[in-house]
Amino acid sequence: MAHQLLSCYDLHISFTLSDGQVDEAVRGIAFSLDETETLGIVGESGCGKTMTALAVMRLVPLPGKITAGSVFFKENNLLTLSEQQMRTIRGRHISMIFQDPMTSLNPVYTCRSQIKEAIVHHGIARTSDADALIESILHEVGIPDPKRTADSYPHQLSGGMRQRVMIAMALVCNPRLLIADEPTTALDVTVQARILDLLHGLQSKKSMGMILITHNLGIVGDIADKVIVMYAGEVMEYAPVRELFDRPMHPYTVNLLETIPAIAARKERLTVIPGEVPTLRNIPPGCPFHPRCNRSMPRCSTEHPALSTPGTNHQVRCLLYA
Ligand SMILES: Nc1ncnc2c1ncn2[C@@H]1O[C@H](COP(=O)(O)OP(=O)(O)OP(=O)(O)O)[C@@H](O)[C@H]1O
Ligand SMILES: [Mg+2]
Repeated sequence: MAHQLLSCYDLHISFTLSDGQVDEAVRGIAFSLDETETLGIVGESGCGKTMTALAVMRLVPLPGKITAGSVFFKENNLLTLSEQQMRTIRGRHISMIFQDPMTSLNPVYTCRSQIKEAIVHHGIARTSDADALIESILHEVGIPDPKRTADSYPHQLSGGMRQRVMIAMALVCNPRLLIADEPTTALDVTVQARILDLLHGLQSKKSMGMILITHNLGIVGDIADKVIVMYAGEVMEYAPVRELFDRPMHPYTVNLLETIPAIAARKERLTVIPGEVPTLRNIPPGCPFHPRCNRSMPRCSTEHPALSTPGTNHQVRCLLYA
């Protein structure tokens, strides 16, 4: 039987800004993940994907704050642990590849010394064994000359190689959960595909759980087991990946699927969802998506839809199914 690795209930994240305004960036997110599953989180810019991931790491930046909910990693609610306890979990049991690789690799240290830091911090290997471990993990992420790459500075590497180093750094302590936040957006398309293949391969080889964050639903199609579609801080739809692709329910998901190039290729040109993502200041009343929705009904502008479960494993937040 599959064991649960992570379960997140009713997560809320708010930013209290200098003018006293409280922006709710994440509003009641819930999901769970088994030990070897991959969860995709998709949605347009600003919908709360990164904040959700940072909440799992307990790294939501100020003035942001987790205001409600729980995040269970195995039997521990991470939100109740001390900062000291979190430091033993971060990088060791849960690792994250951040959205911008250049901010997480320090330009003044070689790759070797940055990976070594994680190993030493978590007491994974003796100093004398660290170099062998570093070179073997660099080899595992497909770096052709691990010794030379280890002694390079980040700026001496190509974007794809840097991303591989980031993955190596995240995996060197053999975590049980890897969170990859837009791991390929900075890369060109062919390199993107190779990095995604690599992540997918490593996830199954190491039997770890993975959360893959992207604005591109096409990317999760090949890799994820289940998918959350987020909009304006909320879950709009949550289903196993095949179910979501074969029977999308939310009009927003349907729109996102139409923006995938392979599917859209049969049409004249790429679909872009009309209208703008609302800022947190002006989330529309009722369903937050209703001003852009092509199936909107009068009640959608006043009634906020609850998450309903029309299929056993399929949740959707839309009045069409309420
Ligand atoms: N430092 C901050 N101060 C105030 N509000 C913030 C801050 N960081 C994020 N937010 C708010 O949180 C919301 C969610 O941000 P988040 O970074 O999670 O979005 P995202 O889905 O990861 O977007 P992207 O696809 O662009 O990475 C944003 O729309 C923004 O309003
Ligand atoms: Mg983000």
